[in-house]
Amino acid sequence: MRIIRAKDYDDMSRKAANLIAAQVTMKPDCVLGLATGSTPIGTYKELIDKYNKGDLDFSEVMSVNLDEYKGLTKDNDQSYNYFMRKNLFDHINIKPDHYYLPNGMAENAEAECQRYDKLLSSLTRDMQVLGLGLNGHIGFNEPSDEFAKGTNLIKLSESTIKANSRFFEKYEDTPTSAFTMGIQSIMQARKILLLVSGKGKAQILREVIDGPIKPQVPASILQLHKDVTIIADEDALSML
Ligand code: GLP
Repeated sequence: MRIIRAKDYDDMSRKAANLIAAQVTMKPDCVLGLATGSTPIGTYKELIDKYNKGDLDFSEVMSVNLDEYKGLTKDNDQSYNYFMRKNLFDHINIKPDHYYLPNGMAENAEAECQRYDKLLSSLTRDMQVLGLGLNGHIGFNEPSDEFAKGTNLIKLSESTIKANSRFFEKYEDTPTSAFTMGIQSIMQARKILLLVSGKGKAQILREVIDGPIKPQVPASILQLHKDVTIIADEDALSML
């Protein structure tokens, strides 16, 4: 694991955007695996800035997202589909048929998981961007007794529901389940870029990097990937 130390959130965002920009420049038709959450928002802003300056072209880029809440339409302003359009896709020249997310409204969950797995196996991700949940989850792969392989519909843990409720008007509005790319699919990306910011993530980041590899800390499996870069700010690295 390569660890890049950033001064603060903005520095982390700049450094992450530089790596993603390098990927897109080196391979204009690359496949990116993208993430939601508050962590990558600054990175997406930096990418938009580079695009506006004429330094980046996303016209051939494809992207597949990690996850989507179950039960939210793509136009619900809390859905991850909406998030991606608002925070990135609407501001760059990625083609509308070049980005994919799970369909949170799919009636047949099993069929939706199969559809997404099929899509993932047809698109080898060159770079997978990840944030880190407070309990060590990646995508929405919550602590469990085993590492999930493919796309699955997951029941969110109490701590994740609580963390995500800050974006919803009422706690009761926070979805309790979500579709997520499985751990095996995440690990199949050629390169992984994990972004971590803030003191609140310091303890879990230490476990991810230095602790035993176990499904109770899902992100610890990244220790086994051959090309992982962690960009973390000083607060997040303060316990290492
Ligand atoms: C959600 C997302 C994850 C994200 C995590 C951390 O649960 N499904 O992909 O990494 O939250 O969010 P934040 O970046 O806001 O701390």
